[in-house]
Amino acid sequence: MTRQQERQRPKPRDREPELLLEGGKVLNVYSGELLESNVAVKGERIWYVGPRSDSIGQKTLRLDVSQKMLVPGYVEPHCHPWNVYNPVSLGEEFCRRGTTTLVCDNLIFYMMMGVEGFEAFMAAFSKMPVKFFWFMRLVPQTPLEQEDILFSAANLKRLLRNPLILSIGEITRWQELIKGNPKIEKMIRMARKLGKRVDGHTAGAKYENLSVISRAGVESCHESITAEEVLERLRLGYHVLLRESSLRQDLRTLLKGVRENPLSLRRVMLTTDGSSPAFHVASGMTDHLVRTAMEEGIDAVEAYRMVTLNPAVYFGLEDRLGGIAPGRDADIVVLKNLHDPTPELVISKGRIVSEKGALLSPFPEPDWNRFSSAPEGERKWRATRDFFEIPVKGMAEGQKLSFPVISLISTVITRIKRVEFPVRGGLVDLSAGDGFCRVAAMSRRGRWIANGILEGYADRIEGIASTFNTALEIIVIGRDLSAMASAVNRVVRMGGGIAAIEKGETVFEFPLPIGGMMSELSLKEVAEKESALKEFLSSRGYPFHDPLYTFIFLPNDFLPEVRINRRGVVDIKKDAVLWPARRLPKR
Ligand SMILES: [Fe+2]
Repeated sequence: MTRQQERQRPKPRDREPELLLEGGKVLNVYSGELLESNVAVKGERIWYVGPRSDSIGQKTLRLDVSQKMLVPGYVEPHCHPWNVYNPVSLGEEFCRRGTTTLVCDNLIFYMMMGVEGFEAFMAAFSKMPVKFFWFMRLVPQTPLEQEDILFSAANLKRLLRNPLILSIGEITRWQELIKGNPKIEKMIRMARKLGKRVDGHTAGAKYENLSVISRAGVESCHESITAEEVLERLRLGYHVLLRESSLRQDLRTLLKGVRENPLSLRRVMLTTDGSSPAFHVASGMTDHLVRTAMEEGIDAVEAYRMVTLNPAVYFGLEDRLGGIAPGRDADIVVLKNLHDPTPELVISKGRIVSEKGALLSPFPEPDWNRFSSAPEGERKWRATRDFFEIPVKGMAEGQKLSFPVISLISTVITRIKRVEFPVRGGLVDLSAGDGFCRVAAMSRRGRWIANGILEGYADRIEGIASTFNTALEIIVIGRDLSAMASAVNRVVRMGGGIAAIEKGETVFEFPLPIGGMMSELSLKEVAEKESALKEFLSSRGYPFHDPLYTFIFLPNDFLPEVRINRRGVVDIKKDAVLWPARRLPKR
């Protein structure tokens, strides 16, 4: 069916279904059967499932799907639609591959827009061809200016009442649940009262701590990295999301924890979490997870349940989602056979939205200017090379200073390494040290800067700056002070993005005009940009696989061991500032 035919489809009489899918085999996720049935669709709902076809009218569109399989539209229960892609470009790719419901992280949008703006944003996205629901953060991932105002209990309560918000999500500071944090406890109580879920982020938590976290009201976790961790969480009553992402490809290992125990699969879901664009383009979306599950010996019916009925039940939406039955939302994926979860046809909200892997129409583009205006005065300042020097007070010329170097041991994990550097002219002298870069976190308005030293990043990088991080500020890394300043000025002038400078020239550039975090390009195009960034950094000595994740996690406050953010260089475990940030002079 062409886009034009779909648009011109006449409106049938009141009692007539608009669409009839004839002769296909329906995967009944409730009974576990495969039954030959006709499926009639009226408006956004499924009207009828069964042997009859006599209720249709002359204007009902009849589609012959004999020899095909019909499964419910897939649900992605936990994604972060701001990983240089945006919710439209990510949603389009999910849709094309059969995912008709996305439960998305609100963090970046909420930080960009505040309560009212984010409410309007959710309303705009509720009109998209697939369903966008949201999980809501209680705290940011890095200290923010006026954090308590944005994340006040009043604001959070207001958001939680919105029907498009399904859960509190990603409580990364899970140690707060062990210690007891009155604000988080209050919000969890409120979420439970309103029938919303409480999604956890219990990375690395052991059995005893998981018990306390469960007692505090957390109901799920997507951070298991071993089969044992999956089982522990299931035994403690958690719903478990098995993750396969660009950062960690654990799904095959995790499935071992549940394969031998089919009953446990009822509380298991699958997620791509916040995978990078190139990873999605190379491997797929939810369809890839279902395929992997079946390859690992999971029964096909159970594999589809993990991405349909199970998340629907978890979010309390099984009356609408997750199955093909009368009265449910008409989100249906037509497959060649059950073993190939990549769809031939996708029906979402009762309309045919994708055929043979191609969308019939692109998603409508939201008015990004309305939702992502740049902060006032943001583009009017310029960085200079002296910003990236590290001033030291009260030390004699040549005296050695023990500095807390951030040593990068993987894409995202860091260690504190004390290294002695001489002081010259009141500044830390890095000239003798090999393998060290300067790093700084700085305000996008040029108000403050946190200087640090980074080891293990790239030994041949002159200057690269990025606004792609959950602080929505600037991270700059380099070995050349002028190149660092020019890179910062380039991203400021672009209105956000990533830029690298060498010998005064821009050698890599990736504008991210939506909040400095997202591009307006398609997923395929941003994947190409991501690959180019990786190639560029690898050629300068970057040894890891995901430079976007390195940027995004450098200022975070929940990962070991040391981070750089508006407070300075911070020891996360001890919650101690090792080298403070400083205010920049007003210009
Ligand atoms: Fe996540």
